[in-house]
Amino acid sequence: METREQTETTTIYKPVSFSETILTELMIPAYSNFGGKIHGGILLSLMDKVAYVCAAKHAGNYCVTASIDTVNFLAPVEVGELVSLMASINYVGNTSLVVGIRVISENVKTNQMKHTNTCYFTMVAKDDNNEPVQVPGLTLENQEQVRRFIEAKSRIDIRRQYRKELNGINIPEKDEQCRLLLEGERCRVAYNGIKK
Ligand SMILES: CC(C)(COP(=O)(O)OP(=O)(O)OC[C@H]1O[C@@H](n2cnc3c(N)ncnc32)[C@H](O)[C@@H]1OP(=O)(O)O)[C@@H](O)C(=O)NCCC(=O)NCCS
Repeated sequence: METREQTETTTIYKPVSFSETILTELMIPAYSNFGGKIHGGILLSLMDKVAYVCAAKHAGNYCVTASIDTVNFLAPVEVGELVSLMASINYVGNTSLVVGIRVISENVKTNQMKHTNTCYFTMVAKDDNNEPVQVPGLTLENQEQVRRFIEAKSRIDIRRQYRKELNGINIPEKDEQCRLLLEGERCRVAYNGIKK
């Protein structure tokens, strides 16, 4: 069996184009909510699917979703529209990779296109023993790919810092201090723990 150091020396590289994936799906009435728009969960499921295909192709291995960067729904998607999800590898770490996904919705009658969201899935490659396994390096072939790689790396650094700050959140032990923090918030304390 190869050690991590041995694997490092034999790293292969794959270009972004090797795993670029486009998934197009018709939005049928069964996907809609009571307001007639497509459920956000349907779009999330399609994003997870396309992220998996793209990641597994680059990794040459089974992959799992580790995390999803903020998903903002910029515009509603209507029944009858064609939704296309364009996925490409933005960044590779050691065993993880970041898949960037741009989602476009198209009205086939008017040819009108709208950008409904962009998001980033972090996927981790797994070996046959379900252990994280190294992924191939990424060959960047144009400026856009270099920009996306650097942006993804920055997001990882920012997330690390954010996690550190979240872990550092202190809930005051004294009721009086808690009461001060709640001032101006739309809540009321309905138990005796925090005294006036
Ligand atoms: C994600 C998972 C593989 C991480 O496993 P782990 O034993 O913590 O592995 P490690 O700490 O060695 O991390 C492996 C890689 O994942 C990355 N990673 C781990 N947790 C992460 C997270 N929450 N967000 C982003 N990246 C993460 C690490 O940075 C590391 O990347 P690198 O090798 O490129 O440096 C593991 O927690 C898992 O299998 N989770 C369940 C995944 C799943 O079932 N997804 C579907 C959910 S519906």
